[in-house]
Amino acid sequence: RAWFIGRGPDLAAKGHDAMKLFVLTGAGCSAESGLGTFRDKEGAWARFDPMKLATPEGFADDPDLVHAFYNARRGNLLTAMPNEAHRALARLEAELAARGGALFLCTQNIDDLHERAGSRSVAHMHGELRKARCLACGAVTAWDDDLGRNDTCPACGETGGLRPHIVWFGEMPLYMAEIQDALEEADLFVAIGTSGSVYPAAGFVGQARHMGIRTCEINLEPSDNAGLFDERYYGAATEAVPAWVERVLTGPDAL
Ligand code: NAD
Ligand code: APR
Repeated sequence: RAWFIGRGPDLAAKGHDAMKLFVLTGAGCSAESGLGTFRDKEGAWARFDPMKLATPEGFADDPDLVHAFYNARRGNLLTAMPNEAHRALARLEAELAARGGALFLCTQNIDDLHERAGSRSVAHMHGELRKARCLACGAVTAWDDDLGRNDTCPACGETGGLRPHIVWFGEMPLYMAEIQDALEEADLFVAIGTSGSVYPAAGFVGQARHMGIRTCEINLEPSDNAGLFDERYYGAATEAVPAWVERVLTGPDAL
């Protein structure tokens, strides 16, 4: 519920007289900001072994290797800029809120480009690259520098117990209760720039259909679960997303 509160009245109390959108984004949304995807031909997992770099076992086995991998990605992020797709989604969120509706933005991305484009509430189900988590006290703190095994937790002062605040393979994604609540209340489910190959995110479209919610995919090419979408738009996110937002706000079948 927290994600709807704070943008005017609690929309759940207002019933369905205002459009509620659930938007799921993946690495394809940030690709044109220069941040690599995972499963494209140049994707991270084509060049690195995800089991060594994105699992708790990999981190326990070689923390310096995992820190180096995410320090490099964090460095790229600090020079990356939001693109037209991020900005179009921030515009859509503001427009919907002005009409008494809401946009629940759930991202698999660990970058902060949605926030920097102006999106006000973003559920990072795979965590955030610009945050560190302390294994000793559990505190999550903003972290923009390189992170390593000799760093000290700003909350508890322990040294050597900090990890990237990122959800790895085999770990539970974050905000799952809020995500399920928002999915149940949505009038439209939209997936943008995700291959639909990693669960639980890849299962959201099936849940939406099961609840009779209209579904829409916007991607460079058909995703693994393309057949589950009622509407499908293919092209680069920086073109396809602004065009789709324009359509839903002002087109013949505007929301
Ligand atoms: P998952 O469903 O992708 O993986 C389930 C298991 O299947 C994992 O052990 C994985 O190694 C394996 N697997 C994945 N793809 C496979 C394939 N194509 N063929 C065979 N086996 C495959 O996700 P999960 O394990 O439930 O991970 C939990 C969450 O962590 C996921 O949502 C994932 O996206 C996330 N994650 C985040 C990052 C990151 O850098 N932010 C990296 C990896 C995973
Ligand atoms: N515009 C739109 N879509 C694009 C673009 C673009 N410019 N470039 C790539 N894509 C699409 C690809 O066609 C692909 O379907 O984005 C998708 C990226 O898929 P993945 O690389 O699998 O990224 P994602 O779906 O976010 O991966 C899910 O897996 O490893 C974990 O945690 C990691 O969050 C990631 C999760």
